[in-house]
Amino acid sequence: MELNTENLPCHIAIIMDGNGRWAKKHAMGRIRGHKKGAKAVRETVTACRELGISYLTLYAFSSENWGRPGHEVKALMELLEEYLDNELDDLLKQGISLSTIGDIDRLPPSVQDKLFKVKQSTQENKKMVLTLALSYGGRDEILEAVKRVAKDSLKGLLSADEMTKEQFATYLHTNRLPDPDLLIRTSGEYRISNFLLWQLAYTELYFTDTLWPDFSREELYKAITVYQGRQRRFGLTDEQIESDRPV
Ligand code: FPP
Repeated sequence: MELNTENLPCHIAIIMDGNGRWAKKHAMGRIRGHKKGAKAVRETVTACRELGISYLTLYAFSSENWGRPGHEVKALMELLEEYLDNELDDLLKQGISLSTIGDIDRLPPSVQDKLFKVKQSTQENKKMVLTLALSYGGRDEILEAVKRVAKDSLKGLLSADEMTKEQFATYLHTNRLPDPDLLIRTSGEYRISNFLLWQLAYTELYFTDTLWPDFSREELYKAITVYQGRQRRFGLTDEQIESDRPV
């Protein structure tokens, strides 16, 4: 499939869903689905990097996922460690820096150590920022930001009355990231599931029935092509957007 490389989204965020259903469809255990899902992560990261996407954010483990059976949580953590071990060289070669959002302190110490190592080793890379949302919940993130704003206000470091949206956004985990232009959710579910609640305000949403382990470069191109056909109005009228367009 040919892709028009003009008007690419600068930041793509993905809710990777459907590993369990993929496994069931193939008469396998759920963990096999997650393993195949990790392969789709590799392929998607490389495809985005090759296209010149600046930011890719993946919902890899939500704060709610802690409630899954212990053996599945353990397997997901092991898979993440394996990914970090195996991918470091490739991330370096591709000029990708790794970052995270979420309550990283809740992750097993061995995962935290590996994350720290990969983040440190890749921090100078400038081609693409890959952000893994781990133990992440959008409401937790906003609530934590509100608490920090309240504390800073009490200390006299800011005036709560004069606070702007831009200032508030600096208290979020995504402080250094632009808002996503395109959100992709796989597996035919039409929900945001507590992902980037503040940041998705004007993001274009794309839903596909494809299960995450089957997500491919082709699927990514399809989502981007749909995005390119959308008119982003940011609350303005059609006419205002048209008159702003260069001729
Ligand atoms: C949703 O599928 C997926 C997850 C909860 C975790 C995402 C994890 C991966 C893609 C693999 C490992 C990630 C990295 C970064 C190496 P589900 O289990 O909710 O599927 P279901 O809804 O069909 O049951």
